[in-house]
Amino acid sequence: MTTSETPDTGYLPVMLNPFEPGYFDDPYSQYRLVRERDPVHLSPIGAFGLFRYEDVHRVLRDPSLSVEERHMTPLAATADPDIEAMLVERREGGTHTMLNLDPPDHHRLRRLVSKVFTPHTIEDLRPRVQQLVDEHLDAASATGSDVDLIAALAFPLPFIVISEMLGIPEGRDRSQLREWSGAVVKTFDPILTREEILASFDAIDNINAYINEVIAWKREHPSDDLLSALIAAEDDGDRLREVELIEQVLLLYVAGHETTVNLIGNGTLALLRNRDQLELIATDTAVDATFVDELLRYDSPVQMSRRITLAPYEIGDKTIEPGSILMTCLGSANRDAGKWGPTADALDLRRTDARDHMSFGGGFHSCLGAHLARLEGQVAITTLVRRHPGVALATDTPVWNGRIVLRGLAELPVTLS
Ligand code: HEM
Repeated sequence: MTTSETPDTGYLPVMLNPFEPGYFDDPYSQYRLVRERDPVHLSPIGAFGLFRYEDVHRVLRDPSLSVEERHMTPLAATADPDIEAMLVERREGGTHTMLNLDPPDHHRLRRLVSKVFTPHTIEDLRPRVQQLVDEHLDAASATGSDVDLIAALAFPLPFIVISEMLGIPEGRDRSQLREWSGAVVKTFDPILTREEILASFDAIDNINAYINEVIAWKREHPSDDLLSALIAAEDDGDRLREVELIEQVLLLYVAGHETTVNLIGNGTLALLRNRDQLELIATDTAVDATFVDELLRYDSPVQMSRRITLAPYEIGDKTIEPGSILMTCLGSANRDAGKWGPTADALDLRRTDARDHMSFGGGFHSCLGAHLARLEGQVAITTLVRRHPGVALATDTPVWNGRIVLRGLAELPVTLS
């Protein structure tokens, strides 16, 4: 895939290896090694990983690159012909989310929803977000001092907020939806087992059936919510096709909670392991407006995004062929000493340029839900830390969710006091 030779660096070749013990506790040491030795890194699956801040920043903002899979030279096929055939069948017709479309389709779809995600509209949600956080922390403390913070707060908060924004009725078993949605987002990972692929097929079918049911219900019960607005745009004919409607709802629903859960989980873990920083939040409201960005930088809820080359692309010491995948490693860019200096690996809530992090991506695909995520993270974490200044980790080994891209905790046991 590359037209230039790999230079002789004098080192053994480096490779990002999620199977190495300890990877999920700390992917950052592996990122550092690759960033220093082979920052434009051809992975065994044939994609190019980008690990430096300047490369990630440039690629995400480069309008000459695509996000559409049809431009991609197929990667090495899976070793399993059954799975390969199923994948080919399912890919027929392509995907229709704004995340996977170039302009003009991307801009048309994003415009339909962007007005509900502006800073002003999102700020109006603050009282409701605060109420939900208070209710969940009340319920958690009522059950005793030992709590799994993911189940008690980090998952339900963004899940309820995005369900309410969309106007999705309560009723379906939340843990079932969480399981399906978890299997769907696992497919963002570059490496999957046969079982994970099969589970994702089932989950996608189930969740699509659920979204279809919800849309049918909403057609009968329109209201002042995002889903009703999208249905009206679909009825209008020109602006949104049915398949686009279903996929946009799925994207918003899944992106709305599968990422922010990791912001609250990873962010709280980082604070509990850096007690002096946690105390800053408890005592100094000056950090309120900015600390979430440092938490996002320090341990990003989304570790990778991607673009596809349409023409020969020069980056670092390589010229990359058209049709190649550039995997931008956001988590590595966020820790690059070339950008952040010698304290790149330290959590510093007073860092003045933390907002330059790459955790929300960049360019016209940059995260639509960034203001919402910041609001939820800020209210959840400040309320937790101010109500329970003695909150502490109840284990030295919290359980990671095993996802390479949507990095987060499956459980975060804490003691509330
Ligand atoms: C901490 C939480 C979140 C993180 C770290 C995050 C991160 C990201 C990233 C990395 C991208 C891809 C950007 C790119 O490739 O340049 C993205 C796109 C997107 N995010 Fe988020 N996200 C979060 C929360 C949310 C929320 C709450 C929503 C709300 C529904 C949301 C909706 C979206 C959408 C719709 C896109 C596609 C935008 C486009 O293609 O134009 N995200 N997000």
